[in-house]
Amino acid sequence: MDTKVTIKPGYPVVLRSYNPLIETDIRLFLQEIDRQLGPFLLKSMDRIPINTLLGEGIRYQIQGGGKRIRAALCATVCEIFCGSYEPALDFAAAIEQLQNFTLIHDDIEDGDFERRGRPSTWKQFGLAHGINIGDVFASLSAFAILEADYPPEMKLSLLRLICELSLQVAEGQSLDISLRNNDSPTVEAYTECVRKKTGAFFAIATVGGGMIGGADQKSMESLQEFALQAGVAFQIKDDLLDLVEGKGRQPGSDVFEGKRTLLVTYAWQSSSPHERTRLFEILNKPRALKTQGEVVWVHDLFRRTKAYEQAERLANQFINQAMGNLLDLPETPAKYRFIRLSKYLTSRVV
Ligand code: IPE
Ligand code: IPE
Ligand code: MG
Ligand code: MG
Ligand code: MG
Repeated sequence: MDTKVTIKPGYPVVLRSYNPLIETDIRLFLQEIDRQLGPFLLKSMDRIPINTLLGEGIRYQIQGGGKRIRAALCATVCEIFCGSYEPALDFAAAIEQLQNFTLIHDDIEDGDFERRGRPSTWKQFGLAHGINIGDVFASLSAFAILEADYPPEMKLSLLRLICELSLQVAEGQSLDISLRNNDSPTVEAYTECVRKKTGAFFAIATVGGGMIGGADQKSMESLQEFALQAGVAFQIKDDLLDLVEGKGRQPGSDVFEGKRTLLVTYAWQSSSPHERTRLFEILNKPRALKTQGEVVWVHDLFRRTKAYEQAERLANQFINQAMGNLLDLPETPAKYRFIRLSKYLTSRVV
């Protein structure tokens, strides 16, 4: 992964919070975590028969990589409490396998053809195989915990944590899908959805890292609340990155899919009745019938209604509020990397 990022002239407000120092520092750490996870993810391939389409699909998804943000959050929390991130690596690998499970299904739910700069798994292998390949990653995630060198009670606690919070992720995804039929989405409805679909997943990472590192109950509650709020900030930034090339796929995919992102939520509230009607007419059209010109019109409405700025402001509010939960964590160098990681969640450009 290259750590240098070029900001193209004329890029909109979405990149205004870009901070080259945090970007370089955190990207180097993410690369380090990615390297550490490599052998764990490769090992999981042993369970899948090679030279089969299923094996090919699993390899394809794993080779697609990922930023490893959740793994890095988990590893860093563990280091805050026990001085090393190494004990967290098995669980961090489980989290990234769970992320593969979620993302394969998410691309099917969202009708997205691209992920991580190449065809999404269901596009590459077809819908039926795509669903099946996605399912395997749930087992691979559980195996990463079962086969780790953790005491049995720890394994049970980690599996319970994943079960409980994955239910919330699924609930959030369900709200996300249902919101697409709502022509007056509110900030509250958006926030409830993303606290679950993205925040609950972040909580698996932070609380799990705390469990492995030996954190006390009060710290774990703070880490859970941090994650739920930081997840909202991360998701708002994800919505903003869909406007540019930051998602590793063609920009505008959320509008093509008719998603009620925070930008839509702000834009309809500041539009004229005519603009509002046109906005939802476009969003509600089937993906295949939507034109690039209509997507550009919606993006321009986001700009004219200052939805970009409002979304960026809310993301910053959420991340600052989230970091308020970190005050009482032990004063260690890892805590300050965790704080920089938190800032990166909204300053990132990929
Ligand atoms: C994508 O997560 C799903 C969201 C919650 C927006 P990431 O952007 O962390 O995806 P990868 O794992 O780095 O590809
Ligand atoms: C995905 O949100 C959240 C989860 C997968 C739980 P998005 O649908 O916005 O993620 P991307 O943009 O496809 O990565
Ligand atoms: Mg998606
Ligand atoms: Mg989605
Ligand atoms: Mg998105």
